[in-house]
Amino acid sequence: MSDQLDSAAYYHIAYESHAIMNPLSDERFLLLAAQCGLDESSLVLDVGSGNGWSSYLLCRSFGCHSTQVDVSEQWTAQARTLFEGEGLADRTEIHCMDANAFYYRDVSYDLVICLGTALMFGGFEKALRRLARAVTPEGFIIIGEPSAEATLPKRYREFLDASGWEVHTSRQLLRSIDDCGLEMLWTLRSTHDEWDRYMSMQWKAISDRARANPGDAQLQDFLGWVRDEQETWLRYQRHHVDWNVLLLRPL
Ligand SMILES: C[S@@+](CC[C@H](N)C(=O)[O-])C[C@H]1O[C@@H](n2cnc3c(N)ncnc32)[C@H](O)[C@@H]1O
Repeated sequence: MSDQLDSAAYYHIAYESHAIMNPLSDERFLLLAAQCGLDESSLVLDVGSGNGWSSYLLCRSFGCHSTQVDVSEQWTAQARTLFEGEGLADRTEIHCMDANAFYYRDVSYDLVICLGTALMFGGFEKALRRLARAVTPEGFIIIGEPSAEATLPKRYREFLDASGWEVHTSRQLLRSIDDCGLEMLWTLRSTHDEWDRYMSMQWKAISDRARANPGDAQLQDFLGWVRDEQETWLRYQRHHVDWNVLLLRPL
């Protein structure tokens, strides 16, 4: 197995059966979004928008307009196909680019979504600072971020360090929210069922692809990664880490 996983190639297969690419059901995401008072005049910015499913849910349910930004050609193409197929192409604009290079117009959006993508800005607080500038004074931010309270086992901490994944305590998350001049209105914590489903769909997609292509060395590497991740998931992550989706707004 090679040392470096090509994570973009891995996730392009692993997420191929997902709707929302996060451990969150459509219903619970929409419950959160319903707090934002969106209507046909509302503008949403979705950073790291993936296959477009979360934006699609919002545009379909509330009639709003969504600007999607994602670096992946595969996911932005899939998002375009989704919106065109559902007759909602006029409700979105899709930018295939690094979200760090996107021009964030000041106070333009009624809702900014950052679901599972804060790391691309350098972490939770840096993401909040960037996104808070783009939201109107009456607008909202929905952001997903992990947290852990207990002292984490050494082996799991080593895994986190190696993968560049940061896991804050909820106290640290709250401090960052305060420091960025935001208030927290609502929290969702992914259930074990939502998280099991999210992980298992990834593993099955990789396994199915590897079976269909037995001579593919990269897929064999990916199977090795799956095995490591399953161990980390079952032994540590499932017990120690929460996935939070937070609804925030400017103070
Ligand atoms: C975990 S997925 C989440 C997708 C979507 N937010 C959702 O919840 O369904 C992370 C997404 O971030 C995108 N991404 C990663 N780095 C990025 C960057 N620098 N700029 C824009 N998108 C990025 C990936 O292509 C991927 O689609």
